[in-house]
Amino acid sequence: MRSAGVHVLRLALAHRFTSTTQCCSATAGISAPHLLHATSPSSQEQPEQACSTSYSGQVTPTSHSRTYWTSNSRLQHTAVAQPQGGSIDDQALDSATSISHVDPYAVVQPEVKAISERLRHSVSSTVPVLKQAAEYFFRKGVEGKRLRPTLVMLMASALAHTPPASEYHGVDLRPAAEPTHELRRRQQRIAEIAELIHVASLLHDDVIDEASTRRGILSLNATVGNKVSILSGDFLLARASVTLGALRNTEIVELMSQILEYLVSGEIMQMTATQEQTLDMDHYLQKTYCKTASLMANCMRAVAVLEGLSPEVCNTAWSYGRHLGLAFQIVDDVLDLTGSASILGKPALNDLKSGVATAPVLFAAEQQPELCTLIRRKFKSAGDLDRAVQLINQSDGIQRARDLAKHHCLMAAEMVHGLPKPASDHAVLARQALIVMTHKLLDRKK
Ligand code: FPP
Ligand code: MG
Repeated sequence: MRSAGVHVLRLALAHRFTSTTQCCSATAGISAPHLLHATSPSSQEQPEQACSTSYSGQVTPTSHSRTYWTSNSRLQHTAVAQPQGGSIDDQALDSATSISHVDPYAVVQPEVKAISERLRHSVSSTVPVLKQAAEYFFRKGVEGKRLRPTLVMLMASALAHTPPASEYHGVDLRPAAEPTHELRRRQQRIAEIAELIHVASLLHDDVIDEASTRRGILSLNATVGNKVSILSGDFLLARASVTLGALRNTEIVELMSQILEYLVSGEIMQMTATQEQTLDMDHYLQKTYCKTASLMANCMRAVAVLEGLSPEVCNTAWSYGRHLGLAFQIVDDVLDLTGSASILGKPALNDLKSGVATAPVLFAAEQQPELCTLIRRKFKSAGDLDRAVQLINQSDGIQRARDLAKHHCLMAAEMVHGLPKPASDHAVLARQALIVMTHKLLDRKK
């Protein structure tokens, strides 16, 4: 076993998140919505596993399988690929000093730049208002970090037999509906679809949350109104559907379509949560998988499926995305409490204002029972917001949420070790980048 692998396992085992939601335990073990169980086996997704959290239990790694205890004492086994040990490449991967300098964005930057360019073309419309609205968050300067396309191309590189030829750094301006049989282009299409779905979900989310800013500028709804904003999101989804259909692969269509199902389910879970559900950590984590992690997880799996890899490797890639996605959202929820609107580029304390209790608040409520009352009434009475912030600051809720995010980052890093042995220096670099991404995510300030 390699040194970093051992370190990761030790840390993962050290993190036992006991579900002691004293005042908040009424609905521990709540089931996911029925539609989360409607997955066909062909997609290889295991819905219970998809929504399991490993929050409340210990993680018991073995060389070839993983067992999660959920808070309702369900045992869940996930087949993951056996870590490939002992090679010089792996040693390079494991040495903390050798990877700290890796810039994950730089590793696939030419391709992500080309994907961004293709996206700018693909969201154009002949209808002027739609063109202006759909292009809004794809313009240079407000296109965000391109985290999802970067992750997709990094996983593609980590799994590839050969590094991508330089021709794939060029912009592919073939029409969305035109099928392509080149593997790397097909994986680039997954990156493109991921970004289209992500931006569409933000457009819808900002309408629901009545947000006034996003990415440091006015939100689209604040600019063109709710109706055009929603329809622009639909337009982006339509573009994503055309690109998806052109892949001519029903398994991939199913995987990527499930993301939409989960996104909507997550949003509805949040919106319709009962008083007790808003106090329940399992409900929070299931919702978080649906709202955020499912996109990353299913994209990672799609890349592995296109590569023609075994179900175990596809699962491992999926698990990486799931853990990273959960960590990403937990950090986001911490930043909502600790960050300022000017740094975040979107309103701060948004979750509390929307009546949503996230991981740091739920952890804080275990120490500050008064918070449970505020959560139940969705922070709607006068003075609730200020009091909630005060109580959270008097607890270690923020630190415990950070620890939970760290746990998922460690698990994501461990999944990278379970991927097949890297076949080239570029694949080694991509694997290192996937690990560094977990560090960057924890340290991010916005
Ligand atoms: C941000 O959450 C929102 C999401 C991660 C997903 C939103 C999903 C929907 C609105 C369902 C519709 C989906 C599609 C594909 C049209 P947040 O409000 O916690 O984060 P924020 O602070 O960035 O707004
Ligand atoms: Mg929002």
